Amino acid sequence: MIDPSSSLGLLVAEQPSRAEMFERLRLDYCCGGSQTLAQACQRVGLDPETVCRMLEALEHSVVNGHGLERNDWRRVSIAELCDHIVAAHHDTLRAELPRIDELLATVVRVHGTGHPELHDLQRLFQSLRQELEAHIETEERAMFPACRAAEADRTPVDETLICSHEQEHTDTGDALAALRELAQDYDTSRALCRTHRTLLQALARLELDLHQHIHEENNVLFPRARAPR
Ligand SMILES: [Fe+2]
Ligand SMILES: [Fe+2]
Repeated sequence: MIDPSSSLGLLVAEQPSRAEMFERLRLDYCCGGSQTLAQACQRVGLDPETVCRMLEALEHSVVNGHGLERNDWRRVSIAELCDHIVAAHHDTLRAELPRIDELLATVVRVHGTGHPELHDLQRLFQSLRQELEAHIETEERAMFPACRAAEADRTPVDETLICSHEQEHTDTGDALAALRELAQDYDTSRALCRTHRTLLQALARLELDLHQHIHEENNVLFPRARAPR
């Protein structure tokens, strides 16, 4: 039985496949991971009991082998979790951010005159790109080494360092929501050309990957960095 008073972050940490349903229902499990399922449902006008039943049905299909369970990152070492985040998420950002920037430049050049909102999208994306590139740099230079040391010495990571990263994650979450709104929910049926369609698909994938990335840091890595065992 799923308890609606559990936090979204914990629910996804327990069972990563729940993230897909939360994405579909627009329940913020990464930056908003500390809110309970009941609170999050109330915010978007969903019935928590119905969502619990949907999650249980999903679990049933996972248990019966119809769903593919991903790794439980709570069970690997902090060092392995940091390596996974760099390989799976930071390297994805290093490849995708310049590619999306180029796609945006093409779309703005071709359609920008008749669609001023594309200029806003480009400005917002470029400022997010800059912030993210600096953010992952700091994580790899300061945060992750501190997490690895915390595991080795069993002493918590400095709270100020963790809080500043959490704040940057919240800013990223806000920028992602603003990008989605400017790009009309990434609805590819409204794409102006093939490049615009590719751009919308790339932005939607970037959002999904960043939600997963921030969830793994906020809800799995940071609690362990605060209380290493
Ligand atoms: Fe990261
Ligand atoms: Fe981060």
